[in-house]
Amino acid sequence: MTGLSGSGKTTVGLNIEMELNKRGFLTQILDGDNIRSGINNNLGFSEEDRYENIRRISEVSKLFLNCGIICINSFISPTKEIRDMAKDIIGEENFIEVYVNAPIEVCEKRDVKGLYKKARKGEIKNFTGIDSPFDCPLNPDIELKTG
Ligand code: ADX
Repeated sequence: MTGLSGSGKTTVGLNIEMELNKRGFLTQILDGDNIRSGINNNLGFSEEDRYENIRRISEVSKLFLNCGIICINSFISPTKEIRDMAKDIIGEENFIEVYVNAPIEVCEKRDVKGLYKKARKGEIKNFTGIDSPFDCPLNPDIELKTG
């Protein structure tokens, strides 16, 4: 799932997981909480680090998929280049791009983690949607309007 911070990726992911588990599928959620605090704790938010973040996540996802576990990934993945790289690594037949689409104004109003406020004050640099780009997916497999 791709989308701005606060668009609802993690919330949607948790619900997808519950529904898949009810139907007997094994799942693994990957998101900032379990990836950026662990395997990727040496990465920041420069363009290069975001690319490396998603590259590693894609490789890890492929391993889960290989043993039959559906991987539900919630990451901003802000550029087409990054999302295409993920699709290449995981394989087109196993990759579903879900655009969790809420306008920046809505995400900023929600500001669940208080990060938009900090970004506006300049306390966080390169914040997606403020001073770092987010290219809207033009042709996602699924678009969820969560505004
Ligand atoms: S990605 O761009 O590399 O895909 P990722 O999804 O892993 O980003 O991490 C985004 C989360 O990190 C946000 O939801 C937010 O909580 C936090 N974060 C901290 N700094 C930034 C920043 N500069 N830009 C975006 N998100 C940030």
